[in-house]
Amino acid sequence: MYESGILATQFLVLALAITPLMRLSRGWPSGLAVMCWLQKRRRYIGVAAAGYGTLHAIFYVRHTGSLELVLLELEEISLLTGWIVTVLFAALAVTSNDASVRLLGRWWKRLQMAAYGAALFTALHWWLIDQFLDQLLIWFVPLLLLQVPRLVKALSKRSTSHQAG
Ligand code: HEM
Repeated sequence: MYESGILATQFLVLALAITPLMRLSRGWPSGLAVMCWLQKRRRYIGVAAAGYGTLHAIFYVRHTGSLELVLLELEEISLLTGWIVTVLFAALAVTSNDASVRLLGRWWKRLQMAAYGAALFTALHWWLIDQFLDQLLIWFVPLLLLQVPRLVKALSKRSTSHQAG
């Protein structure tokens, strides 16, 4: 269970880090080549995260041994957060194909934002289960820092449009 949970988290963090890392590596040709390679495979990395997350959930259900107990344990916020991530992963994985991109149009990009929600609930799940922050912070602090330029850009765009209005 431990390994599948960690692998799901690592693939999720990697999938979300690719685009900001790509922007950072623009002035560094060899780094950019690696990032381009990863960018092309971003969808597979996301599906790998969902796959390991599903495996982790299956191991949990097998370990718990009864569906009744699984439902009873849903009351625990540490486990509920894991289920929320699993549901978000399922939605992202089933729509991660070209037919869904065509069908959902601009809604597809909006749905992809659920990956950030999945990251937030994963961090919460890990923290509530483990109580130690060191391993968690190693993965989530760099991811958070990588999102800062994007957040600043979005906020300044918002304030400019407010001023114009
Ligand atoms: C069905 C939903 C889930 C349930 C019920 C669940 C439950 C659990 C349980 C009981 C553990 C402790 C395992 C152990 O001590 O060996 C655990 C650990 C962990 N889970 Fe989940 N989980 C779920 C979904 C997820 C998902 C989707 C992810 C990642 C995206 C995830 C990430 C982790 C991580 C990183 C750990 C390791 C925490 C640690 O002990 O340091 N879990 N989970």
